[in-house]
Order: sequence, then C-alpha cells, then structure tokens
Amino acid sequence: MTKIAPSILAADFSRMGECVTSLEKAGADWIHVDVMDGHFVPPVTFGAQMVEAIRPLTSLPIDVHLMVEKPSNQIAAFQQAGADLLSVHVEAEVHLHRTITAIKDAGMKAGVVLNPATPAALVEPVLSEVDLVLQMTVNPGYGGQTFISSTLKNIARLRQFIDEHQLKVEIQVDGGVDVDTGRLCREAGADVLVAGSAILKTSDWAKAIRHIRG
Ligand code: DX5
Ligand code: ZN
Repeated sequence: MTKIAPSILAADFSRMGECVTSLEKAGADWIHVDVMDGHFVPPVTFGAQMVEAIRPLTSLPIDVHLMVEKPSNQIAAFQQAGADLLSVHVEAEVHLHRTITAIKDAGMKAGVVLNPATPAALVEPVLSEVDLVLQMTVNPGYGGQTFISSTLKNIARLRQFIDEHQLKVEIQVDGGVDVDTGRLCREAGADVLVAGSAILKTSDWAKAIRHIRG
C-alpha cells in the first residue's frame, strides 16, 4: 500500500504538537519534516529541535528532508533528536557515499534527494546503499507549488532501475502532490507520497489522506 507522509511545513506552527497527534490519528504513515537553511533554498524553517519537540508525541517514523548546505554537519543532531530517516540532496553533497554511510552508522535510515532538473542517473551508483530515493516534483523551498509533470519520467526511470537490480529502496515524491498528481506518481512507481497543502489545508485530514493514498 502507498504510504502517505504529510509535511508539517503546511501546519500552523503555533499548534505543532496538536498537528502531529492529529496527523497520526488521521492515518499518516510518516511525519515529513522540511529543514531549510536559507542557503540551499531561500527560506529558513526549523532544525533538529523541532524533531526533538515532536518526537515524544508520535510513534510514527520521523522523515527528515534536509534542504541545507553541508548536510553531513547535521547528522549527529538529528540522530540525537530521534529522527528515523535522514534524506540529503545529491546537489548539496560532494561526498554522497560518505554521508550516506555516516547516516546509517548513526542508526538512521538514509535517503537521497533529486531536484526536478537533476538526472536520475546521478543517484544510481548509491541506490544499493540507501533506504529511500526522493524525487522532488517541485523546486524545493516552498509549499503550495504546482507539480512539475516532467519529473514523472525520473520516477519511472528510478522504478525501472530499482526493480531491475532488485533493490529494497522506496521511491518518495514531494511537491504539489494531491489526489490527481498523486495518482500519476503512483502509476509511475512511487511508494511514498509527501503532501503538505493537499492534506493540512483541508478541513478533514483523514479523508484527504485516504483519497491521496488512492
Ligand atoms: C518543498 C518541501 C515539501 C513541501 C510540500 O520544498 O520539500 O515537502 O512541504 O508542500 P506541498 O505538498 O504543499 O507542495
Ligand atoms: Zn519535503
């Protein structure tokens, strides 16, 4: 079954605790945490302290999407905060294999992330080492953007590579995902759908999660 990872970027930050407990009750599979540093992407959001704050409130896996320069500097802090999965952008990391190894050595699952204009081939050498590959379906930095359809080709290519090599890697997609674009991603081979606005900006989160799951 397709997993749904709501992004807390779309939450009311003054009620973050309630938001996380409500998402768990509404049927979320993972909690997606968007960390932005004002350099890799223009906005600044939050860091490991947010993970530490929500960790006691949920038993769901906490899925951290690092949109930061020098992601390797963040590994220890997120491990101590209780993150389950740490994903780093291939565009932000010169020593990708080393960083993936360090994330796994710290006891977390490791993910690699591709921007919409980054060829899928760039992560193929490390796909046997990671637990997750995240295909961005918008340019990172903001919630509520329009899905970029050309990313579907990358999803299909990743699916083919993973199946051909019989790898145990989940394909996640992130950005502009709603009922319609979520279906296209599932058909292209995605396993985990991140959605911010399409869940948190509605009045019935359980219904939105059910419909996006398909
Ligand atoms: C964008 C973030 C996304 C964002 C998705 O940089 O990585 O996770 O929260 O938001 P929606 O679903 O509203 O496009
Ligand atoms: Zn994200």
